[in-house]
Amino acid sequence: NRTEDSLLSPNRMLNIAHRGASGHAPEHTMKAYQLAMEIGVDYLEIDLQMTKDGRLVSMHDPDVSRTTDGSGLVSEYTLAELQKLDAGAWYNQNNPDKANKDFVGLKVPTLDEIFEHFGKKANYYIEIKQPSQSPGMISSLLKTLKKYDLLDPNNREGSVIIQSFSEESLQQIHQRAPSIPLIQLKGEAITKKQLEKIKEYASGVGVNAKLVDRKFASMVRDAELLLHVYTVNEKEQMVQLLEWGATGLFTNYPDRLKEVLKEI
Ligand code: G3P
Ligand code: CA
Repeated sequence: NRTEDSLLSPNRMLNIAHRGASGHAPEHTMKAYQLAMEIGVDYLEIDLQMTKDGRLVSMHDPDVSRTTDGSGLVSEYTLAELQKLDAGAWYNQNNPDKANKDFVGLKVPTLDEIFEHFGKKANYYIEIKQPSQSPGMISSLLKTLKKYDLLDPNNREGSVIIQSFSEESLQQIHQRAPSIPLIQLKGEAITKKQLEKIKEYASGVGVNAKLVDRKFASMVRDAELLLHVYTVNEKEQMVQLLEWGATGLFTNYPDRLKEVLKEI
């Protein structure tokens, strides 16, 4: 009984900018998110880490060394220390063909900064990690969402999605904020029985592309769950997943998905 306009409609194909438009700009920086918004995506995907002083920041790895010029765990940095690191120069070194001087000196953004900047213009697809690794992350996330009025029931349905590989994290959110749609991430095969269990607390599954074929996609759709697939960067695979019935794709190249969706 969801309207076609809902981001959670089973008839939509959501364009989810994986770590921002991370094929074109350093992942999880304001530049990557801005670019995704210019392309016109359905969601900004945000992976959360927590600093030593309890601030939520957008970064994929628990260790800063791949995506900044620092080393060590995010949890060992205060926010002030973390924001002294360069979160963009590495991209230019790894991608000389796409290097851009504007990427040098980019900072690790806080969740507050992202919400402050994009407000309700963007939809957010936020990943939380194991609660045991970051105690307080869920409370802090819910508080931050409320602070920016992002949990208002009058907001567009699905404007914030929370995803996690951790069932425990999702169950906690389901208890504390039952109106937020949840996506259970899975990196390994899922049975029909597991899907029934997931349906008790989540709106869908977010699965590794290597697990998905026509049969699997039908099983998920027959269970009346959304099927979001990560990480899909090639147009041919986008077309195939669409045909099989995926309802959203995480992609580093949301511009390519946009073109595919225009062509079909
Ligand atoms: O959240 C979907 C996908 O991003 C999961 O993998 O490792 O890129 O966060 P990862
Ligand atoms: Ca993620």
